Order: sequence, then structure tokens, then C-alpha cells
Amino acid sequence: MESIRFPCLAVFAASCVTENRGRRDRAIISSLTHNHCIKRMKILVTGAAGFIGMHVSERLLARGDEVIGLDNLNDYYDPSLKESRLERLRPSERFRFVRQDVADSFAMARLFAEEKFDRVVHLAAQAGVRYSLKNPHAYVDSNLVGFVNILEGCRHNCAEHLVYASSSSVYGGNTKMPFSEHDSVDHPVSLYAATKKANELMAHTYSHLYGLPATGLRFFTVYGPWGRPDMALFLFVRAILEGRPIDVFNHGKMRRDFTYIDDIAEGVIRVLDRKAEPDAAFDPLRPDPGRSHAPYRVFNIGNHDPVDLMDFIEAIEEALGRKALKNFLPIQDGDVPATYADVSELDTWTGFKPATNVRDGVGRFVAWYRAYYGA
Ligand SMILES: NC(=O)c1ccc[n+]([C@@H]2O[C@H](COP(=O)([O-])OP(=O)(O)OC[C@H]3O[C@@H](n4cnc5c(N)ncnc54)[C@H](O)[C@@H]3O)[C@@H](O)[C@H]2O)c1
Repeated sequence: MESIRFPCLAVFAASCVTENRGRRDRAIISSLTHNHCIKRMKILVTGAAGFIGMHVSERLLARGDEVIGLDNLNDYYDPSLKESRLERLRPSERFRFVRQDVADSFAMARLFAEEKFDRVVHLAAQAGVRYSLKNPHAYVDSNLVGFVNILEGCRHNCAEHLVYASSSSVYGGNTKMPFSEHDSVDHPVSLYAATKKANELMAHTYSHLYGLPATGLRFFTVYGPWGRPDMALFLFVRAILEGRPIDVFNHGKMRRDFTYIDDIAEGVIRVLDRKAEPDAAFDPLRPDPGRSHAPYRVFNIGNHDPVDLMDFIEAIEEALGRKALKNFLPIQDGDVPATYADVSELDTWTGFKPATNVRDGVGRFVAWYRAYYGA
């Protein structure tokens, strides 16, 4: 019925049938070869040398999928950490690394045409709210130009499903808690957030025009081992161990829905395994921002348990066995005082919601940090 109302869906479906039949055969053959029942897929993971990308790739490899990990290894933060993450993936014979920029349209078109990925997990992006005030062009190149290249690659090569990273920052100035996918997100307060919201809009267009199943995940403050050096947990642990004061913004009056990395990786894969579908109940007279007539979905993925920044710092102090020197400062431009995810949609769709408590997660991060840096 949807393809009658939206003829392009029928065109996409017809042109991709043969293509996808070939992929199914590949998956079945590979299952027989390996004498087990896992449907092995060929998956492009962009940002594979990044924090979330490495964890997602590890899980996909562990369950038998083939992963082509793409990253440009830029120096937004220490590239040696990205190299170390890749070292964890390289031993798998089902992993290949491609050093490439997602904003390079020609190279991306060639890669998609050569590899014919079954599914795509797009995590490469210029991350960070504050840096978007300093270097806006990095966000335009990686997050907008790069995203179009991913969409075009999926469109022309019949990818079965695109899962991409959005962000809790799309909720911008919203104060209604918890943040829900059914709320409007038209008031971003940083260029970073605007690029993530733009990604959702661009994905919707391709879902509508070409029937590309696309699912956006709004990540809420992800933390854990192999984490990002520009984020609070990393900065705090490093400063405390070096005896330097930590910067506590908004005088500590912040709440964050800190979400543990293993929960994020599990959520990404659960969503990847269930293709976005058109919502039969979608009403264009009263359009729900989180749904569509097209195979398009967005989900929050957060711990749905916001923690006060001062309690978070206390958990770090306990894990380190040291007190922090605190430098209280006003809120930074582009930042929001609180985040809190409603995850009921994710739970209904996948039967999964994050649940790791902050004390456990911080403890695991500190153990990793000490081992990795010998601190
Ligand atoms: N970590 C969080 O709390 C969080 C929250 C919300 C959204 N996100 C989003 O999740 C995704 C992954 O985040 P992360 O925390 O793993 O960040 P990360 O910076 O560790 O990983 C991103 C990776 O993408 C690569 N990259 C950046 N620009 C690229 C380009 N133009 N071409 C190729 N590779 C490029 C980087 O080198 C990096 O390794 C990003 O899209 C980010 O915006 C993360």
C-alpha cells in the first residue's frame, strides 16, 4: 500500500531485489561454510577507530559478521588512541580497515560500488558541542557532506539498512523531560546539534524518495573504556590523577543521562538487525516527528536515569580514591543543563534498554584508564 502512495518505494524495491537476493545467497553460503547458523553480513562501520565505532565493530566481529571499518584517523584528539583501538580489531580475519574521509565523494562512491555492503553503521562525524563554535567547517565537511555521501552510497548500492549516529543534543533548548522522539527538535543550540538534526532530515528524504530503510540513534553522553579524551570523564580522571583542578561548568548544576558503552553497542546492533519500516498508523495531518510513512525511525538511546554532575564526580573520586580540586565556572555556550532520555520506543522496538549504573561504569573506565596509561 505504501509503495502505491509513494511510487519511488516500488522503484527502489524492484531495482534492489536482485541485488539483495545475491547478498542473501552470500550469507547462506557463508553460514554453511562456517557450519553454524549465524547470518553473516558484510557491514560498513564508519568511525571504526572511534570510541563507539570500535566497540560496535568488536561485537559484530564476535558474532561472525564481516566488518569494513572506515576512518580518516584525524587529530581532533590523540590519533594514537585511535590506532590502539584499531589494534584490537585487526587480529580478526573478518576485519578490514580503510583509511578514508567520508567527505571524499569520489572515494566513497567507489568504495560502496566495490564492496556492496549489506548494512551500514555510520558513526564517523566531527563530534563535540564546544568545538563546533571554534571550527564550524569541520562539521559541515564531515557531518553534512559526509552524510550525503553515505546516503548516496546506500541508495545506489541497495544497502538493506542504514543506522547512523544522531545525538541527544538535537533536543537543544527543550525543557520537557524526559526527552521523547515524539517532541519537536527544531531549536538546536549548537552547530553540532544542527548537523545531527540535519542528518535525520536528510535520512528521511532518502527513505521517502528511494525507500532506504534508515534508523537514527540519539546517543546520550556515552562513557566507558576506550572513551573520548575530550569528554568529561576522561578529562576529570586525567586531571585528578595529575593533581590539577577540574572545570565544573554551570557551578555543578548539570544533569546528564550518562550511558555506558556496552549498552550503546548492544543497542546499535539490535537496531541494525531490525530494519526501519513505514508506520502504517502515520497521520500526515498530525505528523509525529519520530515516525513516518517512509521506512524511517529515530530512537533515543540513553540510560533514562539522569545523574547530577556532582554525584558523577563523587563516583570518580571513589573509583580513584582521591578528591578532586574543583574550579566552578558558568555554563558554556552551546551546552544544555540537563539531558534525560525516554527509551520506551527503543524498548518496544528491540526489547532492550540501557541499564548500567554510573558507579559500575565509572569503575570500569578508571580500571581501563589506569591499565592503558599505566597511571
Ligand atoms: N560519545 C558520545 O557521547 C556521543 C553522543 C552523541 C552522539 N555521538 C555521535 O556518535 C558518533 C561516534 O562518536 P564517538 O564518541 O565514537 O566519537 P569519536 O570521535 O571517538 O569517533 C568518530 C570517529 O570518526 C572519525 N571521523 C571523523 N570525521 C571523519 C571523516 N570526515 N571521515 C572519516 N572518519 C572520520 C574520527 O577519526 C573518529 O575516529 C559520532 O557521530 C558522534 O557525533 C556520540
